[in-house]
Amino acid sequence: MALVEDTADPKHNLQAARQAYYERISKYDMAPLWEKLRELVGSEPKTQCAPAIWRFRDVKAMVMESAELISAKEAERRVLVLENPALRGQSRITQTLYAGLQLIMPGEIAPAHRHTASAIRLIIDGNGAYTSVEGERTYMSPGDFVLTANWTAHDHGNTSGRPMIWLDVLDLPTVNFFESMFAEHLDDETQTVRHQDGDSAAFFASGVLPDGAQVSALQSGKLSPVVNYTYARTRSAIAPPTAPFSCASRARAQRGSGTRNSPGAPATYSSRRHGNTIRTPRSVSQCCSRSPTGPPRKRSGSGGRSIEHICRRRSGAPVPLRWRNGGTHET
Ligand SMILES: [Fe+2]
Repeated sequence: MALVEDTADPKHNLQAARQAYYERISKYDMAPLWEKLRELVGSEPKTQCAPAIWRFRDVKAMVMESAELISAKEAERRVLVLENPALRGQSRITQTLYAGLQLIMPGEIAPAHRHTASAIRLIIDGNGAYTSVEGERTYMSPGDFVLTANWTAHDHGNTSGRPMIWLDVLDLPTVNFFESMFAEHLDDETQTVRHQDGDSAAFFASGVLPDGAQVSALQSGKLSPVVNYTYARTRSAIAPPTAPFSCASRARAQRGSGTRNSPGAPATYSSRRHGNTIRTPRSVSQCCSRSPTGPPRKRSGSGGRSIEHICRRRSGAPVPLRWRNGGTHET
């Protein structure tokens, strides 16, 4: 301190003294917290992610083109990763989630493996390819929501005559953050089918259990045991096809009955007793009215951003998606 007071430019010398100090302690792999404190602990949440939209009509041709360059077997998973524009090169769509469009052509197999990351899949295009999860082979249709919980064996195959595309979302960045990501490849390319299509939904989601079923086993896990939340069932939950219900009237009815639903009546995919279907991403399905009303909402969850996936429109009109920062995007 004496050094500073004795000089003509104490401010300059204080800075120089600090810098010299920082350099000395840096050799011991130490750094002053006070230089980073405001950056580390801000006054409000901040995200590096940027809002972005991938229109299927724009990207489908590029996804299809990948089939001419590499087979599903060679790629293991033929996927185009959706990278957040602010996080390019990091294979992530938000800070905590990976997303990609997977293509499987007729006759192809994506071989069986399992890994510590969990996956959710939203089926976009095509009909009749399957995903096998722990021996249950489910055939997929647009709008279906398929679960692959962490460390469950899974493979994909396309026995239909058409290409099939779906959106994969994995908690890869989260698992990588904990340095706990790894995978195992199974000996056989495809799993032996041990359960027929729809078995898990019939058993765990019907509201009825066979006499003598091991209820305690159902309660012990924190993951949903249902492999495929089919769109046919989801749609009836968010917008029953019969009058007088529309998306908006459904929302009003649910709010009126005390259900804590915001406009649009989103329905959460949930396990039987434990909330989210799998531990990390929260997944909701929502019926959007033609002209959604209400203020833009800030989404919680993955890096302050959500991944929206529009799988079907009831009308041909575009549905505006509004972001809190004022930008407007149309699907
Ligand atoms: Fe996988």
